[in-house]
Amino acid sequence: TGLVTLDPGFVNTGACRSGITYIDGDAGILRYRGYPIEQLAERSTFVEVGYLLIYGELPTRQQLGRFAEQIHRHTLLHEDLKHFFDGFPADAHPMPVLSSAVSALSTFYQNSLDPFDEPNVDLSSVRLMAKVPTIAAYAYKKSIGQPMLYPDNSLGLVENFLRLTFGLPAETYEVDPEMARTLDMLFILHADHEQNCSTSTVRMVGSAQANLFASVSAGINALFGPLHGGANAAVLEMLESIRDDHGNADGFVAKVKDQKPGVRLMGFGHRVYKNYDPRAAIVRDAAGGIIDKLGGGDELLDIARRLEELALGDDYFIERKLYPNVDFYTGLIYKAMGFPTEMFTVLFAIGRLPGWIAHWREMIDDPDTRIARPRQVYTGPAQRDFVAIGER
Ligand code: CMC
Repeated sequence: TGLVTLDPGFVNTGACRSGITYIDGDAGILRYRGYPIEQLAERSTFVEVGYLLIYGELPTRQQLGRFAEQIHRHTLLHEDLKHFFDGFPADAHPMPVLSSAVSALSTFYQNSLDPFDEPNVDLSSVRLMAKVPTIAAYAYKKSIGQPMLYPDNSLGLVENFLRLTFGLPAETYEVDPEMARTLDMLFILHADHEQNCSTSTVRMVGSAQANLFASVSAGINALFGPLHGGANAAVLEMLESIRDDHGNADGFVAKVKDQKPGVRLMGFGHRVYKNYDPRAAIVRDAAGGIIDKLGGGDELLDIARRLEELALGDDYFIERKLYPNVDFYTGLIYKAMGFPTEMFTVLFAIGRLPGWIAHWREMIDDPDTRIARPRQVYTGPAQRDFVAIGER
């Protein structure tokens, strides 16, 4: 009881203290553990950023080598877990397949159930970093009816994932280094974003002292939503529908401004950024070169650029401070790389993984953590007497 402050969507409610990621949405600033996203995107690697987010500091060469080696060692899935994929329909969306398989990991690693057992939390963190890309690639292979490959542990995380996704058993798969570097960079850009919907979900589930696998699985399900991670797929569908409508970007923007339910400029707007999303600026700069190199998607890229130009010069978007977010250009790059639209949100999940792990661990280690339990303002009927079924 007592006075309850109503804050739908937690627009002004801080739920925790966090030392992981800093965002200044008005200035368009994003830093992981103090390091600007631009420097990390250019000079770091996804595995190194994963270490930074989870452990708080950039690793020494030795620490990074050990972390990477541990990840390599855990990329295989238990053979019994592989049977899971047979149980899903062939056209299953890979996101629920991914969340189900991640949830199931806790049945294979019973020692992961105690959230305060630090060595096992370390092991679960490594297992997730190593196995989520394998699960993601298998979900894709299942959806196209191709056999699953075993991981090649001489390869790095991203190279391994690309080979598991696009390689075939009898053929050698040559990883394109530029494609691998771009995907690695996109994973860095997605690696954390403080208290977003999926990360808050991971923290909320974890606040009940649920294990790391269960909490991350819940986060994956939150990320599946089109207003969150699902936006990268929704952007591509929007661009394709505009292309099929004779490339009429102006007409589409006019429809968005009518504010018909469900019609939004996908990949635009953000709860926190009221300025250009710094991640979107990096992706936009990378998009042209990689799409040209890999071929395809030029027409859609032109439509995306035209939409951005229209929106940035239009009062509707200016007044509401709506700018492109990270997802506006990523789908075009994923498409040029050969990923089908259903895989886009899965790629986001692989990228966001170290952030989820870091937040879950920070939450478990924080003595101020209490079970997350929001209040409500009750709007239902006052007390009334039960009426027998024949008298209703
Ligand atoms: N297109 C058109 N109008 C928009 C858009 C958009 N993409 N986003 C917000 N608005 C309008 C909205 O209609 C409202 O107008 P009014 O004040 O006249 O009612 C105003 O801007 C404020 O929007 P809101 O929905 O109250 O803002 P929010 O903070 O609750 O929502 C958002 C943030 C990201 C869910 C929203 O901007 C959106 O739906 N964007 C499209 C989906 C998208 O791209 N999501 C990816 C977000 S970034 C990656 C991630 O976090 O997963």
